[in-house]
Order: sequence, then structure tokens, then C-alpha cells
Amino acid sequence: MAGEPVNLDDALASIDQVYDPRVVATVNDYAAKIAKVRGDHVWHSHADTDEFFLALDGTFDIALRDGPGGAERTVRLQHGDVFVVPRGVEHCPSSDGGAILMFEPADTNSTGDYEGDLPDHVTSSSGRALDES
Ligand code: NI
Repeated sequence: MAGEPVNLDDALASIDQVYDPRVVATVNDYAAKIAKVRGDHVWHSHADTDEFFLALDGTFDIALRDGPGGAERTVRLQHGDVFVVPRGVEHCPSSDGGAILMFEPADTNSTGDYEGDLPDHVTSSSGRALDES
């Protein structure tokens, strides 16, 4: 089935929740997902896949434990910046407010291996359709 073009600005305008990924396109078994971001996400990793991020708006920080002995660093993405978190690397996104696009296997869960209680503003999801409530 051929789809219709999706405008990312319009798609983002239709989203209220932060950290609630929405699928805007699928490519074979991968999906492009967008999310509004604000506040702290949770530390997690994805054992089976890298995770691609593109900052669409605002500022998006990704804390990473990829140094010697798991030392932490933080990368800051701003509009137009892309970054890939390698598989297995613990990461914790945060933002003062913004929007991102992720590209990853469609079944990738947004909170990875995290097992604790989730803060109210974080949804654990592999992404739902834009028009799915
Ligand atoms: Ni992740």
C-alpha cells in the first residue's frame, strides 16, 4: 500500500505527550519515529540494535556510559544534528524541550532494558501510529 506524505511539522504539532514515540514511516523492518522531548528519560540500553537520533527542534542531550569503566559523558544535539548510540551502550536522554526523530528497527522499545518504575512523563513503547490514541 502506498501512503501519503507526512509533514513532520504538522505531525509534531499533533503530539501533546513528551517521550511518546510516533511512527511516521516504515522502511523494510525499520521505522522512523518522532517524539517531543522534555525532562529526563531513563537510563537504558538496547542489546540488539544501534539507535539513530536526529534533533528536529530545541536541544537534545544524550548521557552515555561509554567511557573506560563505564565513565559518563553527554553529547548535545541541536537542530540538524545526528548521532548514533551503539548497541549495548547505556544512555539517558534529556532535554529542556525539543523534538527528535529516531530511526531503528521498528520493534525497538523506547526504554530498552529498563525495568524500574517509569516516571509519568515517559512512555515505554516501540511507537504508535500518529492517528492512534
Ligand atoms: Ni534508547
